[in-house]
Amino acid sequence: MPGAVISGWGICVPDKIVTNEDLSARLDTSDAWITERTGIRQRHIGGTTSELAIVAGRRALEKAGRSPDEIDLLVLATTTPDATVPGTSATVQDALGLQAGAFDLNAACSGFVYALVAGHGMVLAGSKRVLVIGSDTLSRITDWDDRSLAVIVGDGAGAVVLEATDGPGELLAWDLGADGSLRHLLKCDHGGFLYMNGKEIFRHAVRAVVESSVKTLAQVGMDPSDVDVFIPHQANARIISAARERLGIPEERTVVTIDRYGNTSSASVPLAMADALETGLLQPGALVLMSGFGGGMTWASAVLRWGG
Ligand code: COA
Repeated sequence: MPGAVISGWGICVPDKIVTNEDLSARLDTSDAWITERTGIRQRHIGGTTSELAIVAGRRALEKAGRSPDEIDLLVLATTTPDATVPGTSATVQDALGLQAGAFDLNAACSGFVYALVAGHGMVLAGSKRVLVIGSDTLSRITDWDDRSLAVIVGDGAGAVVLEATDGPGELLAWDLGADGSLRHLLKCDHGGFLYMNGKEIFRHAVRAVVESSVKTLAQVGMDPSDVDVFIPHQANARIISAARERLGIPEERTVVTIDRYGNTSSASVPLAMADALETGLLQPGALVLMSGFGGGMTWASAVLRWGG
């Protein structure tokens, strides 16, 4: 059946690195606590959501060998838009010179997988090429005196070009979920700072990732033992381990980048995907499971056959 394939990808993180030692110098925390409780050693901080998205998007276009006028839709997943109005996608569309429709999508940290599924759907509906970007600057809505949040956030962006293909598409199955009754667990009012109930999110996140992953794989008659590369949202190394262990996916098949980037929200899955491509873990033909969760509460999983 015709579908879409990822023909290019690109990432962008700010130059400035903030280490656990940097944070410990100004907050009542320590490298030992942050590393042990979160798995994070450093994070990149800086820039705006559009700036990071533009660079990641340009790199994805280059990798795909496509010019801006060959893209007919931009979907930008972000939970930290540059402004309430206009959508940050407008800035990105203009800067990249796209002659395309453009819209923002906010599903918090599940945003990239939501956008990937939406982009695939648009290709099936007739779009030829969709640029999907996840970009977030959580640092801009973080109270840097709040140690519970300051230690986990990071900024970054990741992008992919989705192309229509006559051959088999990559996306085999997906699951998008939400439980708005849990929206109080992670929130940021206009002009305010991020608030998070870390313990409750932790509990729900592990369950959401496990249940959504199993449900998605089951749609195509598979189970976690079939997964070659597991790309989870990177919010806490302990959440990744707990979900991975419950799913029975070996550590060596699981992508972990949180040590270098922290929680980059909509950017974490494409950053991890790029890492798996760079290290060679992600090879043509691999069965890929992506699974994210975040504020809302939302969750999203996708199963792809890399290379179609
Ligand atoms: N440095 C040092 N100590 C800290 C600290 C920090 N940065 N943050 C909290 N503490 C302290 C607490 O005050 C508490 O002290 P106490 O025992 O004296 O009361 C102790 O460490 C344990 O706090 P707790 O909140 O129970 O830690 P935790 O093990 O649950 O870890 C999170 C906190 C935030 C790292 C963890 O709950 C988490 O990652 N949750 C999920 C968050 C998430 O996924 N968010 C993104 C959604 S997309």
